[in-house]
Amino acid sequence: MTRIVEVKVLEELVQPVHTNSISSHAQKTSFSLTQSSLWSVSQVFSKIFSHEALESYLPKIQLVIQDTLRVWGRNPDPINVYHEAQKLTFHMAIRVLLGFRIPDEELTRLFEVYQQFVENVFSLPVDLPFSGYRRGIRAREILQKGLEKAIREKLQSPQGKDYLDALDILIESGKEHGKELTMQELKDGTLELIFAAYATTASASTSLVMQLLRHPAVLEKLREELRSKGILHNGCLCEGALRLETIGSLHYLDCVIKEVLRLFTPISGGYRTVLQTFELDGFQIPKGWSIMYSIRDTHDTAPVFKDVDVFDPDRFGQGRNEDKDGRFHYLPFGGGVRTCLGKHLAKLFLKVLAVELASTSRFELATRTFPQMTLVPVVHPVDGLKVKFFGLDSNQNEILTEREAMLGATV
Ligand code: HEM
Repeated sequence: MTRIVEVKVLEELVQPVHTNSISSHAQKTSFSLTQSSLWSVSQVFSKIFSHEALESYLPKIQLVIQDTLRVWGRNPDPINVYHEAQKLTFHMAIRVLLGFRIPDEELTRLFEVYQQFVENVFSLPVDLPFSGYRRGIRAREILQKGLEKAIREKLQSPQGKDYLDALDILIESGKEHGKELTMQELKDGTLELIFAAYATTASASTSLVMQLLRHPAVLEKLREELRSKGILHNGCLCEGALRLETIGSLHYLDCVIKEVLRLFTPISGGYRTVLQTFELDGFQIPKGWSIMYSIRDTHDTAPVFKDVDVFDPDRFGQGRNEDKDGRFHYLPFGGGVRTCLGKHLAKLFLKVLAVELASTSRFELATRTFPQMTLVPVVHPVDGLKVKFFGLDSNQNEILTEREAMLGATV
């Protein structure tokens, strides 16, 4: 395992390795979005995550997040943030990124199956009854059936959408290159997109909530920035206020998200194959070796970060810009040829979540102390992070749940 010290290492001397049994099994037998040689993957992704595409996803992302926070606020009991964040990311991928109109009940069922798939995706490929591998394969089959139904419905009935989603772009790009994608290719591409977005974004969303809880001064400074830009009026989000341009102008918000991703980087690193023998910190790394570059160790040891263990969003602010020296000290989204293709969408999602949390929610930790973190399969709190949410109305007063209102009435 190594810390990245030179750009050259990630860009020229190594190449990506794909691991994991169930998904690589899928990739061997059919199309894989990130490994396709049919046409340039980066071209397709540059369309899926272009400025215009992100602008058109934005109101939908905001809606999905608002609906979710409303549900969290109405729940009389604390919620498990990590579990709920996984559900939220899954909904975002299905409803916004892929544009599927799946009824709520079906979506909940698919989410449960998807969780089974993810829980078993890294199982050893031992195909015995009741093995994790068998459960994973079974879950993937059910998922693929659900996705096939959604894709067919989408292709058969034009839904009068006002934007092109990732699936539309994938199909269009195929046609532009004289290739009609098969149903299997569409299902695999779809599953791969959900897989890439799901765990990472849920992990970062949970870390964001935790850091806002731990650092009320940061939350207040964020609210101050929203007020100063006219986005937060008495706690209500003004209609139509959120545009990419507005979000881009929120510098403190940007620092907060960057700092969450520095300190709680969801993915610990990536695998590469050495193409050419090279030397690193006095060690010779031979051609043909598989190596792992560590994002977490890089963030922990990069000399540019002062007090590395302290959550300090201002380190990315004007005057300090601790990440400005060297492209490879700060790499939550990886680097080199296999850098994250969805990073702009991920950052946008996290920013909208932060804006919505700051504007429309009050939240408090429901346990006596903050939970320990675990790093596998992505960074997350061991108990999922139990938090009680309270919705805020337009006057920043708490919206009482029915039970609370009744209790209040009897006192
Ligand atoms: C906070 C959220 C996210 C983080 C921290 C993250 C991080 C990463 C990292 C570190 C890699 C590179 C791994 C390596 O070096 O081998 C990667 C690859 C990738 N990410 Fe993300 N990611 C996030 C969200 C997303 C989202 C929302 C999408 C798309 C919907 C996405 C799509 C991809 C894809 C397709 C790749 C593979 C690129 C390739 O192999 O060429 N990611 N991500």
